[in-house]
Amino acid sequence: QLVLDTLDKDGSIKDTRTLTLPGHKEPAASHDAQIIILGALNSLSSREMITYTTQETLSHVLTPEGASIALNGSHEARVWAAVPAKGEGAPITPKELEAKIGGEIAKVGQGRAFKSKWIGKEGAGLIKLAPTIEDVTQLEMREVDSTGTLKTGEKALAELRKRKLIVQRKGQWFTVAKGPEFSTSTAKPETDLTVDMIASGAWKTSNFKKYNFEAEGIPLTGGALHPLMKVREEIRSIFLEMGFAEMPTGSFVESGFWCFDSLFVPQQHPAREVQDTFYLSDPSTSLPPPKDYYDRVSKVHEHGGYGSTGYRAPWSEAETRKLLLRTHTTASSAAMLYKLAARCRGEDVDPNNDGLATHSGSTQRTNADGSVDSSGFRPAKLFSIDRVFRNETMDATHLAEFHQVEGVVADRGLTLADLIGFMRVFFKKMGLENIRFKPAYNPYTEPSLEIFAFHPQLRKWVEVGNSGMFRPEMLEPMGFPKDVHVHGWGIGLERPTMIRYGISNIRTLVGHKVSIEGVEKSPAVRF
Ligand code: PHE
Repeated sequence: QLVLDTLDKDGSIKDTRTLTLPGHKEPAASHDAQIIILGALNSLSSREMITYTTQETLSHVLTPEGASIALNGSHEARVWAAVPAKGEGAPITPKELEAKIGGEIAKVGQGRAFKSKWIGKEGAGLIKLAPTIEDVTQLEMREVDSTGTLKTGEKALAELRKRKLIVQRKGQWFTVAKGPEFSTSTAKPETDLTVDMIASGAWKTSNFKKYNFEAEGIPLTGGALHPLMKVREEIRSIFLEMGFAEMPTGSFVESGFWCFDSLFVPQQHPAREVQDTFYLSDPSTSLPPPKDYYDRVSKVHEHGGYGSTGYRAPWSEAETRKLLLRTHTTASSAAMLYKLAARCRGEDVDPNNDGLATHSGSTQRTNADGSVDSSGFRPAKLFSIDRVFRNETMDATHLAEFHQVEGVVADRGLTLADLIGFMRVFFKKMGLENIRFKPAYNPYTEPSLEIFAFHPQLRKWVEVGNSGMFRPEMLEPMGFPKDVHVHGWGIGLERPTMIRYGISNIRTLVGHKVSIEGVEKSPAVRF
């Protein structure tokens, strides 16, 4: 506090030996006083309240004998004090003196006291000559003790050193300046504004610790949403706010029928080969699909119909029954569309309880004017986000399992412009404004469009999805009226996530090489 107050008053302290410590009369020139000051300086400088520089000096300290003289007086003074004054009593004999103050002190002290004419002889005894004395040695001891030196100078110091009353000691003193955190209060700065401080009004005078905006914050412990799941939630909410309902997509295992045949994928299509699709060995075959629908599907493949010539290629029932890991979520979309067309096929299904969506309420139950179509059709906007499997060679951008996001819209008179418009809105909501479409081929859509987005890190266009208008060869066997058009688009979940978070290797995002720490620290998880 003394250091801070002095700095506050004077701006700086040029020499800490000029400070007078609390409870002392003299400035703190002694070695011990400087040690005390040094302790204070260190603690203040660690809090950046002050800065100081150290200066070296030579000073003196008392030997034990010197300290005893500082306390009790010099030997000669003690001899003088023990000797009676003239007429005060019988002179004291040297023997009696020794017994009274100790042999050593009596012997050494007598010589000096005689020399200074403080005492004299009277008969065989000793008496005082000087009525008062000044014990210079004791004063010198006290001066050295408190200042480390003598005002009278080096000669007197050398004399005391010779008498082994003092020894030289290296000393330190300090110059002190205000530090960046200078304040006259040594109270530890408050880190929290508490209810008590507000209630008592203490906050008005409290010294608050400054915020460190560079600090990283306490790392998150415990669970964290994987970035992919985070992005899945975002996409899910985009769909929901656009009025889509989520399809149930729990079945990873599908039959060849639902994954390919129902979608008018020819049985000879390369995607159906083992190199591209994982087939199950046990069990290896599915239950048969609905008979009538199966017949219509096999017929359109083999012989055509609904204005199509079909593939005119051999049809194998065994192929339709093969169990496989679904290669796209369009397998689930096909099953959902088949359900959506149930009332068009004349089946008796409660339109309000048709099991079409896990999130009910957003899919329209009726036409916009509230009527239920005489054909039994009602429009639908459906989506899914789930896992698919492909027997691929894995590299930086390919995995054998990944997630697909899929949207399907069914309504009368839909056009390709509706599809493109939908995708522009959808991708913009995902933060991808820079998108392009390129004509493509899908067995189940015509026309088909690949979707490209500009990758700011790779500085090139990357394919993010695939889309199209579902073919009549797919929709009409399900029972949809001719003017009901269905468009759909599918995108990966991983690629947009990688673009969004600047991840160049998919294996840092999915799989056994994902670091838990990376997930916890991912900006996707924090914000
Ligand atoms: N199934 C397609 C794929 O896996 C995506 C798609 C869905 C295309 C719907 C058109 C319509 O890439």
